Amino acid sequence: MGFTSVYDNIVLIGFMGSGKTSVGKSLARQLYKDFVDVDSIIEAEQNTSVSEIFKNKGEAYFRALEQKCINELTQKKGQVIATGGGLPIYSSIPEKSLIVYIDADFDVILKRLSTKERDKRPLLQDTSRAKALFDERIDRYKELADFRVDANQSIQTFIHVIFDHILDQRVL
Ligand code: S3P
Repeated sequence: MGFTSVYDNIVLIGFMGSGKTSVGKSLARQLYKDFVDVDSIIEAEQNTSVSEIFKNKGEAYFRALEQKCINELTQKKGQVIATGGGLPIYSSIPEKSLIVYIDADFDVILKRLSTKERDKRPLLQDTSRAKALFDERIDRYKELADFRVDANQSIQTFIHVIFDHILDQRVL
């Protein structure tokens, strides 16, 4: 029997490299829900990478794809959705989403990302600009969050905190 809930989906937000995709996959598996990742969907639909979209079509074009993607995804219920770090800044997240902020410090993020992972992200190429972006965004992430988790530990150590919250709140 499913729970009745005010939320349709769980939406993970946070800065690039905070672990949204890994957390989302694991959470979805534990909750027996579908996992979807906005960047991967855009890449599959556009048949190219996010960095190529930034390079060839520009950031504004990518932001419009993000808004369209989250609107379409949230027509369905019962999913764990990982967003790109800029999505909650430039797009509105449809109501009835439980917004979970994966909150990791900037230096932790930098240490965590491999060069390959960093190369995939056009807005992480210049460290001082990326830090300025992080500082600019952090308040918005906090403001939007229904639930914030300290993600400075390894995923295994904090994922159960989110899981317990979801079960306690009977979220999905
Ligand atoms: C972006 C984050 C990226 C990706 C794009 C822009 C951002 O996703 O959407 O490179 O503006 O923060 P991740 O948060 O998964 O790295």
